[in-house]
Amino acid sequence: MQNRLEELRILLMEHSHNYYVLDDPQISDGEYDRLFQELLEIEKAHPDWVTSDSPSQRVGGAALDKFTQVRHRLPMLSLENAFDDLDLIAFEERLLRFLFTDTKPDYMAEPKLDGLAVELVYEHGFLVQGSTRGDGTIGEDITAQIRTVNSIPLRLYKTDIPRLEIRGEVFMDRDGLTKLNHQRAEDGEPLFANPRNAAAGSLRQLDPKITAKRPLRFYVYGIAESTDTKCRTQQELLEFLSTLGLPVNDLITFCPDINAVINRFSELSDLRHDLAYEIDGMVVKVNDFALQARLGAKARAPRWAIACKFPAIQATTKILKVDFQVGRTGAVTPVAILEPVDVGGVIVSRATLHNADEIRRKDLRRGDTVLIQRAGDVIPEIVKAVLEKRDSSAEPITIPEKCPVCSHPLQKPEGEAVTRCVNPHCPAQRLRTMVHFCAKAGLDIEGLGKKSVEQLFDLQLIKDLPDIFKLQKGDLEVLDGWGEKSADNALAGIEAAKTPPLSRFLAALGIRYVGEVTAGLLENTFNSLERLLDVTREELLEVEGLGEQAANSIVDYFSDPSVQEMMRTFREMGVHPQVMLQTEENLLLTGEVLLFTGSLKKLSRTEAKKLVKENGGQIASGITRKLTCLVVGEKPGSKLKKAQEKGKKILTEDEFLQILDGTIAFH
Ligand code: IVH
Repeated sequence: MQNRLEELRILLMEHSHNYYVLDDPQISDGEYDRLFQELLEIEKAHPDWVTSDSPSQRVGGAALDKFTQVRHRLPMLSLENAFDDLDLIAFEERLLRFLFTDTKPDYMAEPKLDGLAVELVYEHGFLVQGSTRGDGTIGEDITAQIRTVNSIPLRLYKTDIPRLEIRGEVFMDRDGLTKLNHQRAEDGEPLFANPRNAAAGSLRQLDPKITAKRPLRFYVYGIAESTDTKCRTQQELLEFLSTLGLPVNDLITFCPDINAVINRFSELSDLRHDLAYEIDGMVVKVNDFALQARLGAKARAPRWAIACKFPAIQATTKILKVDFQVGRTGAVTPVAILEPVDVGGVIVSRATLHNADEIRRKDLRRGDTVLIQRAGDVIPEIVKAVLEKRDSSAEPITIPEKCPVCSHPLQKPEGEAVTRCVNPHCPAQRLRTMVHFCAKAGLDIEGLGKKSVEQLFDLQLIKDLPDIFKLQKGDLEVLDGWGEKSADNALAGIEAAKTPPLSRFLAALGIRYVGEVTAGLLENTFNSLERLLDVTREELLEVEGLGEQAANSIVDYFSDPSVQEMMRTFREMGVHPQVMLQTEENLLLTGEVLLFTGSLKKLSRTEAKKLVKENGGQIASGITRKLTCLVVGEKPGSKLKKAQEKGKKILTEDEFLQILDGTIAFH
């Protein structure tokens, strides 16, 4: 069995490499899932066999109290900048002068990713440490967070190198950043202005489970000391690192001379807009390590490399006025309404001003002419006010004292940048809460997307969450953009949402600090919505994994009389969140302990297990005394024989499904 576990680790490592690094999956998601479940089962039965390189370790372990410091064995240097062809030619001239030679070197040209530099240490092929660059000498230990990045191998293909300190960039691609920002907008959280902030913000999460949910990627671009391998050039090194299973950017090119470098820079300048990720320039490196060694480094940057930066896509325009938006959690965000301007092909007419501190720091005024740039092609950013153009009509921007929507006094807690409306009945928050309630992260009600919810709210057809369940066909089908079909569709979605799992329902309510993980903890611990209505802070603090902030927020929420009233209305409307109680008596598999073996054809392991739990059964960790029934798929292996010997009940996958749909009885 231990051999099988090692075999599974390697299989999963290879498939993960095919998927995340080579972008060329060789098996279906379902097949991957089955292998992964098999690994989890073995590990569950033998916790002492779990190794640090197991794919199960990617989900993110326990949260840290703080980051510890890591001293880099060799400093992580930064790069000097070049901005155009002339700077690149000057770079080469400097090199030649320094080397007292006329022999021109060759180069590697590498896209400069806009992310966060990290160092990863592999010992005998195993990832043992990940750290941030920090000040170059001392960074932060982010090993737990690094482990969650799927394209970073936990084990290299070769394990005969005692120690390898590799360096590279963790980043988020455009798609990942857009989705994450979408979610954050819905959750009322501030958006990441560019991929660098998103990567840094995600890696610097004390709770690696949060990092695990962020779509981070990684490319390696070097090692701490070039003599640590037998490679003689940067080109050879990158090829070698790639054979170890490390992801290397395939846009890196060899350039025989500086003219080729200049051409490549212009190619990448055109190509950058079509890439799946943001690059902010091109790094040029002298290819030959012997030459690199002779050139050495100045205080902060090596002489053998330079970063050639793309010109920022900037424009100037005017702040016409400032709007204040209220998010789901009450956060009030100032948004500059700009005179529309073309920034690199995109018309920009709004830019977030983030918060009061940011406005003060940049000294921005209403009526100012401002320099804006599209950072990360995502959210336009105001770089600065053009002070020479400021006239006497420019007015200071102040955050209002009252909520722009409900007029409730706003609060800015000491030490926090965000100003909040704390009125739980604020219509803006209610609308955002309703959008969240119906959205994917909430109850995922089909037919009730953001636009529809906004429309229904504007028409006052829904003022509060339970109103969603009061909607009638007649209300909907007559609305602009609706018809009989879309009304039926939405009503079916609403009907289906009446019996959500409790954890989903809790996450949908939009209670601050209660995401899906905390909601799951609440469901498992308290088992009913009613129980949560009078839960105490002390009881909550006893739940492992639930922190003080969440505990306070949950108690505040459920003790609010209007929330209690809302829960009563939910009940009256037939909304009954379901708890997957394993001891419920009337379920089909109550009292049964099942195990699956062999490959299932109709279900994935996850689905099969979910079905067992939903029907009151439990999953066994192996052929144990407690096991009551073994469900066998194809090629069942030794478990079948063992279970037969012990007189356990044996079912095929089809029989299992027939029991669940009531075609045949269990006993
Ligand atoms: S080489 C001594 N190569 O750019 C060499 N850096 O200012 C140091 N970066 O902090 C880095 N892509 O995060 C190198 N292909 C690449 C890079 C790259 C992005 C970042 C890196 C570093 C910054 C340099």
